[in-house]
Amino acid sequence: MIRLEQVDKRYGNGHVALSGVNLVIRRGEFVFVVGPSGSGKSSLIRLLYREELPSSGDVYIDQFHLTRMRRSQVPRLRRQLGVVFQDVKLLPQRTVYQNVAFAMEVLGASSREIQKRVPAVLELVGLARRKDSFPHQLSGGEQQRVGIARALINNPVYLIADEPTGNLDPDTASDIMRLFLEINRRGATVIMATHARDLVNQVQRRVIAIDHGRVVRDELKGAYGHEA
Ligand SMILES: Nc1ncnc2c1ncn2[C@@H]1O[C@H](COP(=O)(O)OP(=O)(O)O)[C@@H](O)[C@H]1O
Ligand SMILES: [Mg+2]
Repeated sequence: MIRLEQVDKRYGNGHVALSGVNLVIRRGEFVFVVGPSGSGKSSLIRLLYREELPSSGDVYIDQFHLTRMRRSQVPRLRRQLGVVFQDVKLLPQRTVYQNVAFAMEVLGASSREIQKRVPAVLELVGLARRKDSFPHQLSGGEQQRVGIARALINNPVYLIADEPTGNLDPDTASDIMRLFLEINRRGATVIMATHARDLVNQVQRRVIAIDHGRVVRDELKGAYGHEA
């Protein structure tokens, strides 16, 4: 479970990015975080993987108290999380397979585990046939699938995505959305920041709308809404 209590986030320049945010996200949920540009979506996402700390308030993820934990514990937290960004940033000199395998290697997985797991995850994201391609040989949608495979490779409890379809055309974005739904169906909790109105309205999942750093709406089976 993810829990935010009275979270405020101010940056050094005095910008208020989040204000009085209270949230509970349970395991197994699929949650959209929507809102206009500058409303605080990315700030909220960055708090979840402890890239940033709140200015005040508390963030909890399962047994981790993010605002109190030692820096040395952060890798243990991050092992529970997969993170997907708008801008995928693959290693250009490595193949699809090697890019995904690398995320296991850095955590010390054995080559046996890697040889078993990577093909299974590439199959899940629909890239089994492209495993020997290099990033520059892939379309934007395929590159994002590699990013998703990399985020999933260590079997995270939470998959956190910040505008994962932001660089994609509408049809490709729809395909990627279906992939996130499938991943959720298989058990991962998905939290996705997006301003893709059509995608949000298509799938009728929980929608948390933020505006000027405040949660202005939180609906199960929601729509993108007019305020955002
Ligand atoms: N690193 C930062 N330093 C200063 N201000 C920031 C920083 N990141 C975001 N902000 C400000 O915080 C507010 C929320 O930004 P952000 O969380 O990126 O919103 P969104 O992802 O919804 O576009 C904006 O006013 C933005 O300018
Ligand atoms: Mg953002």
